[in-house]
Amino acid sequence: MYQKHDLIIVLDFGAQYSLLIARRVRECNVYCEVLPYDTPLDELKARNPKGIILSGGPASVYEKGAPQAPAGIWESGIPLLGICYGMQLLARDMGGEVKGGKKREYGKAELEIDDESSIFAGLDGKMQCWMSHGDTVMTLPRGFSQLAHTATTKNASIGNPAKKIFGVQFHPEVVHTPKGLEIIKNFVYIICECKPTWTTANFVEESVNEIKAKIGKEKILCALSGGVDSTTVSALVSKAVGDQLTCMFIDQGFMRKNEARKINELFTNRFKINFVHIDASKRFFEKLKGVTDPEQKRKLIGTEFIRTFEEEAKKLGHMPFLAQGTLYPDVIESAVPGTTEGKAAKKIKTHHNVGGLPEDMEFKIVEPLRKLFKDEVRALGKEIGVPEEIVSRQPFPGPGLAIRIIGEVTPERVKILQEVDDIVVGEIKNAGLYKEIWQSFAVLLPIRTVGVMGDKRTYLNTVAIRAVTSKDAMTADWARLPYDLLETMSNRIVNEIPEVNRVVYDISSKPPSTIEWE
Ligand code: XMP
Repeated sequence: MYQKHDLIIVLDFGAQYSLLIARRVRECNVYCEVLPYDTPLDELKARNPKGIILSGGPASVYEKGAPQAPAGIWESGIPLLGICYGMQLLARDMGGEVKGGKKREYGKAELEIDDESSIFAGLDGKMQCWMSHGDTVMTLPRGFSQLAHTATTKNASIGNPAKKIFGVQFHPEVVHTPKGLEIIKNFVYIICECKPTWTTANFVEESVNEIKAKIGKEKILCALSGGVDSTTVSALVSKAVGDQLTCMFIDQGFMRKNEARKINELFTNRFKINFVHIDASKRFFEKLKGVTDPEQKRKLIGTEFIRTFEEEAKKLGHMPFLAQGTLYPDVIESAVPGTTEGKAAKKIKTHHNVGGLPEDMEFKIVEPLRKLFKDEVRALGKEIGVPEEIVSRQPFPGPGLAIRIIGEVTPERVKILQEVDDIVVGEIKNAGLYKEIWQSFAVLLPIRTVGVMGDKRTYLNTVAIRAVTSKDAMTADWARLPYDLLETMSNRIVNEIPEVNRVVYDISSKPPSTIEWE
């Protein structure tokens, strides 16, 4: 399917920004994949790329064990763009000289463009760019010329238009280089001659055809959580094979207020999909009785989910296929030894979601979103009629409110948290902040504190409000919510929910904290 589209490959040298580069290319409606830096040239060629972008990375090109570019890439004839480390590699490998700068240049810089042809076409004069490097290209390889400079970096961009090889010392993919996308567009459209065919409408059409061809007349099952990924997968598969699809929603009892009912309505009334709603709350609460340890809680919920799924799937008869909402960032093999420590990070929490179904169940897996980024899934969802409320929903963890109730999870405590959460999310929406905040929610604490209401002493629950800004949940900062908004939330919570007499605001960032409390 993807050969229908021109392809740009990003070779990942361990940059923080490799995925971002790919997203930027896709914003140009050109398909882009990220591969490890040591992918052999034959494998790269087999994919028939129209161009390759070599990412930045934390290493220095002369360092022992520094990652090297695939052998033969510079002579391959494929148009190349090296970003930061990628540019230093190309300069060194092609006969130039790279030197360790005395000072690391980090932050905004003013770029002066010296050559407005090729990658700077249409960008004259000066522009802001984002620098983050220690090494600098001192001498250019033969055939290369300087395309742009800054006050401190002479060769801020270099190029050999005849060979279609270019380098930029700065990062065109980040927002701090406001016109960076223009540079990427120039590379992709002018240098690589890509056509902008990677559009949502094309994706829907091709994907529907693919799913039809794969499923034939068979039946397919989809586990639904109500989040954007599983809802979009269901809508897409339903568009392709209609009532050969059955969606199963396992209600663990830890959803938000009214959420289970809304999911039910959406799937039965609006989408008219074969929909099975399993109310499994009793067995989940049973399992969680007396459990307070966060990891044990997560494991029990994960296991119980799988058991329930297995039992219920059996009742539906023979379903050879299973649709899952796996996304591109989950798929990327990021095996870059020594450079992507972050990606091979130690397990901090046992994650559970509908993607984590048992491997030994004999389903053939269908993952129509495995090439997409989250923002592309949202665009796709919109295109095929998934309601805005779901498309723009903040992330919600698989174990639901259970990991936002510190201590034992009981139906009574879930009910309290549902009410508090409803106020918090409602007020964030009223304030027009829902979309710009990554997540906003409430946490029920296992402590009671003394208060006074009317003339009476109270001894009731404490809740914490958590609101964070983030780009990818890897790091997060606490949101600077307006005091008035916090006040409204706090007043409403203690006035409307009789079990709560104290509200606190969580002002921790990630790291060292995490977004969820468990
Ligand atoms: P933490 O708490 O680790 O969360 O900073 C990072 C992001 O992951 C979400 N999260 C989960 N999502 N299943 C999920 O699908 C899970 O088990 C799970 N646990 C945490 C969390 O809400 C945040 O967006």
